[in-house]
Amino acid sequence: MDDTGNVSRRLFVTGLLASLGSAPAPVSAAPAHAHTHVLRARPTTITLGKRKAATWAYEDKVPGPLIQATAGTTVRARLVNGLPADTTIHWHGIRIDPRMDGAPGYTQAPTRQGGTFDYVFTVPDPGTYFYHSHVGMQNDRGLYGALIVADPREPLGYDEEFTVVLDDWLDGLAGTPDDALRRLNASTTHDDSIRSTALGGVAGELRHPLYLVNGRPPETPMTFRSRPGKRVRFRVINAAADTAFRVALGGHRMTVTHTDGFPCRPVTVDTFIIGMGERYDFVVTLDAGAFPLVAAAEGKAARAFALVRTARRAVAPPSDAKVTQLDGRMLTYQDLDARPADHLPRPAKTTTVTLGMRPSGNEWTLNGRMTGDPMRLRVDRGETVRIVLDNQSPMWHPMHLHGHTFQLRFANRRGPRKDTVNIKPRERLNIDVLADNPGEWMFHCHNLYHQEQGMMGTLGYGPATRRAATMRH
Ligand code: C2O
Ligand code: CU
Repeated sequence: MDDTGNVSRRLFVTGLLASLGSAPAPVSAAPAHAHTHVLRARPTTITLGKRKAATWAYEDKVPGPLIQATAGTTVRARLVNGLPADTTIHWHGIRIDPRMDGAPGYTQAPTRQGGTFDYVFTVPDPGTYFYHSHVGMQNDRGLYGALIVADPREPLGYDEEFTVVLDDWLDGLAGTPDDALRRLNASTTHDDSIRSTALGGVAGELRHPLYLVNGRPPETPMTFRSRPGKRVRFRVINAAADTAFRVALGGHRMTVTHTDGFPCRPVTVDTFIIGMGERYDFVVTLDAGAFPLVAAAEGKAARAFALVRTARRAVAPPSDAKVTQLDGRMLTYQDLDARPADHLPRPAKTTTVTLGMRPSGNEWTLNGRMTGDPMRLRVDRGETVRIVLDNQSPMWHPMHLHGHTFQLRFANRRGPRKDTVNIKPRERLNIDVLADNPGEWMFHCHNLYHQEQGMMGTLGYGPATRRAATMRH
């Protein structure tokens, strides 16, 4: 990355000397080289329109540096922990070596304050991914960034691409995420005024002061510049902690081509809903003008906003511009289908995971259990397991499985490959998982507040070991 160029060059020299044997290689550090991404996590102050916010970020930027790689190659990222707390980096959606998964207490110890950790892993599958801290509420600060894995034989024809990272923001403007969690825990009832029609229930519990596209609020929007007639691929990532977004591009229909990194049969819609941890790629052929790219915070009467501009003199639409596509044809999971090559084998067994809420309204469960004494789903290497996700709670949950990409299954057809899936209140969804990446993997709700309020389980290979059975995080 240009902005870490100096550091990268320094590491390159160190690595070169080490490989020549004229300097000892750092203990427990993989050889650093020119392509080591340095991610210094530390407190910083960022500008959000007219406001300043104290937060924690990678390289003092929100989102953190964009990491680009090619499928099949090795990514090297050096985490330097300048935070006043332990931290890790999770590479969300990557079929990764478990020791590099950044899941504290599961597969690796967190990196201590002042410490360094070298993440070295291959990225087997092309697609749109992201990375974020996996310790406590840190992911609701600025500790996230996009990870884009290019396909060396990209079959999708397009002229250029833009990465769109969505977030809900409160850190440094309305206390910290830890304060927000404490407030939620102190309340006994849910705010019933926040109702979502599309998700059929409460879409998120917190009202955030700002919603961001690539770290920018609507008053100083991100502008994606292109030219009329260009076929553009947008890669949309929802890095928010507590907000689903309804995404639309004014004046255009969008052809959705991928979800969670994997290609799907292209489907043309006006809008889609993206839950926390999900990704969608879509292509559009741009008209001439300046168009609003909106991500309405579902059920919250606020939006994230950016501009797509193909004509220099076109008048920019205001951030509250009416975008009729938001009420148009909406994507559903049933619209999506994986490529035949990505279909998983028939499952040999079925297991149910019940998503539940305890009466306090602040404790969320998987099969009645919570973090600390978590549900563990046992799988054996090589088998395919069907998991019935049965949501018996009044809120929707974007469930995310580490280390794997599952396949949705509907009554009489197959669905898309995904690693994060929204389950609406009172809904059941089937997902098939091929056990091809041994480890003890987190399986949790990607609403960070729910995750911290208990909604964390495990998918593990073989019998539970003592360590797995007693793990805490
Ligand atoms: Cu993106 Cu366990 O999370
Ligand atoms: Cu949840």
